Amino acid sequence: MAEYTLVADKSGDVRMSPEAKRARYREIAPHIAAVLDGEPDLLASMASVVCLLHHAFPYYYWTGFYRRVAERELLVGPYQGTLGCLRISFDRGVCGAAARERRTQIVADVNAFPGHIACDDRSASEIVVPVFDAGDELIGVLDVDSTLPAAFDEVDREELEAILRLLRGKRALPVVGP
Ligand code: SME
Repeated sequence: MAEYTLVADKSGDVRMSPEAKRARYREIAPHIAAVLDGEPDLLASMASVVCLLHHAFPYYYWTGFYRRVAERELLVGPYQGTLGCLRISFDRGVCGAAARERRTQIVADVNAFPGHIACDDRSASEIVVPVFDAGDELIGVLDVDSTLPAAFDEVDREELEAILRLLRGKRALPVVGP
């Protein structure tokens, strides 16, 4: 098979101040809430959250969910950006740490994080936020990577945790065959 290079849809290297981030989150959050309102399907909702966030922030380079598909395993999708690793065990990486500890992880320098999984070596920093259902079960994590070092802070954590609470109560509807 021929080798080819994945071209990123954005650079992820434009930094925003905490104040500018806060203002942008406050603009986008009501829009996300309006899009999700009345939609019971989890996958469609996750895809919409990823799309709106990815395009709202110039320091986002890779934006996506890893869904919990087994007791201690995460599976990629939906996401936007370059190719993501498919499966991540709870034992590995920043995503695994967020899932295991049920706590947001902010990593200023991915190369300094023991066990960090480099799906795209252009990523320099990341935030991973756990996602819970209405019963407080962990159903996945949201992973956002930037090509900037130390791109994520408490503003991202607070605002992303609030946005992800909009997913509580939604569930993946089955595909209906012919
Ligand atoms: N860096 C993550 C893996 C996922 S990707 O970056 C898309 C981690 O260490 O868990």
